[in-house]
Amino acid sequence: MKKVKLALIGAGLRGVNYTNYALEHPGEVEVVAVAEPVEDRRMSFKQAHRLPDEMCYADWREMLNQPKLADAVLICTQDYMHYEPTMRALECGYHVLLEKPMSPDPLECIRMGERARRSGLVFSICHVLRYTRFFGTMKQMLEEGRIGRLMSIQHNENVGYWHQAHSFVRGNWRNADETSPMILAKSCHDMDILLWLAGDSCTNVSSFGSLSHFTAENAPAGAPKRCLDGCPAAEDCLYYAPKTYLTDEDNWMKLAISDDQSYEGRLKAIQEGPYGRCVYHCDNNVVDHQVVSMDFRNEVTAVFTMSAFTKECSRTIKLMGTEGEIRGAMEKNEIELIRFDRNEPELISLETPGGHAGHGGGDEGLIRDFIRLVADGGMAQGLTSADISVQSHMMAFAAEQARVTGQVVHMPAYLERFASATT
Ligand SMILES: NC(=O)c1ccc[n+]([C@@H]2O[C@H](COP(=O)([O-])OP(=O)(O)OC[C@H]3O[C@@H](n4cnc5c(N)ncnc54)[C@H](O)[C@@H]3O)[C@@H](O)[C@H]2O)c1
Repeated sequence: MKKVKLALIGAGLRGVNYTNYALEHPGEVEVVAVAEPVEDRRMSFKQAHRLPDEMCYADWREMLNQPKLADAVLICTQDYMHYEPTMRALECGYHVLLEKPMSPDPLECIRMGERARRSGLVFSICHVLRYTRFFGTMKQMLEEGRIGRLMSIQHNENVGYWHQAHSFVRGNWRNADETSPMILAKSCHDMDILLWLAGDSCTNVSSFGSLSHFTAENAPAGAPKRCLDGCPAAEDCLYYAPKTYLTDEDNWMKLAISDDQSYEGRLKAIQEGPYGRCVYHCDNNVVDHQVVSMDFRNEVTAVFTMSAFTKECSRTIKLMGTEGEIRGAMEKNEIELIRFDRNEPELISLETPGGHAGHGGGDEGLIRDFIRLVADGGMAQGLTSADISVQSHMMAFAAEQARVTGQVVHMPAYLERFASATT
């Protein structure tokens, strides 16, 4: 296989995570350039990948203004900063791996999809769940007819009360006016998995949900705006910031609050930054629980529940077919097959190196597949395509519209509206 050259735009948590693959597989792939405005991040990335100064840029525009310097670009900036670098990178002839969600704007998603299709370049979206053994095995079981014809899907995204507080109350994805609604930011993965497993296009979507708990009315009596300003509920509150961010235990949330990971650095971050705010006194507006029901052209029906109010951060799913059921809990990495014609269920235990880390192996599977597609010059077939990613993003936009208006959204009519807006 030809050795692939990558350039990274955005050396934050996700960008660094994907490019670690190059450090572990130097024979397959190398990172040759980075664009990152935060100097410390740029410098530490430069060191890790041994990049010369002239291949380290402070902005993606500078990098993409150079003659083509790699085979592919990884775009790992924040949600609202995906469209412009993607369009430019495709224009320059780069294959692109783009973080999800593609964009908070449906028209931009459609336009990127169209540009990619016209270019013939690889354009993969980081729908990492497709690359997990967990969902890959389920898809294979469906294709083998192990439960007959699939009829119904019940899928839960158990966000975890602590994950909700970190990312969707205090953190980057708390306010839909600045980034994306929850169903897009967090659950576009789930819309994508449902589309994949259902095996046909989505026809109708309805949805309900609201922000009900992380609001000022639910604050403990006398709670100040910031945890460290003498909160009387410090001892009992699940969300008291020092419990999450000043602990010695390993947790990824600590990494997000400051580049200075010393105790003093983290203390300063929660004294001054967004992660030290009381979860009941933030400027969050994304929902903390939501349901979406869908039907598909092949008459499969699906119900999806996203809830902040779970202990684990995981996904649980039940697929119901004419001859049996498949049940699975992602964090346990176990799938149960229950056939109607057998007395005992079959338990399938999936050994995943690294356990549940990196989305149950999905992060590594995704980058490996992208590199294979790029090495092949875009001729090979991937697990997904730009068209499919646009479809599942449109399901998420439709679900949000259904939730806000309280009306069922008929997908063909919804898509038609956008089709006329893009021509
Ligand atoms: N696939 C998944 O499961 C998954 C999980 C989490 C986040 N995400 C998505 O990944 C993306 C990145 O998330 P993150 O947590 O890594 O964010 P982050 O803030 O840690 O990283 C984004 C980086 O982009 C850099 N940046 C800003 N302006 C830039 C510019 N002009 N040129 C180059 N770089 C620039 C920032 O300085 C930052 O380092 C988001 O879209 C997020 O929604 C996906």
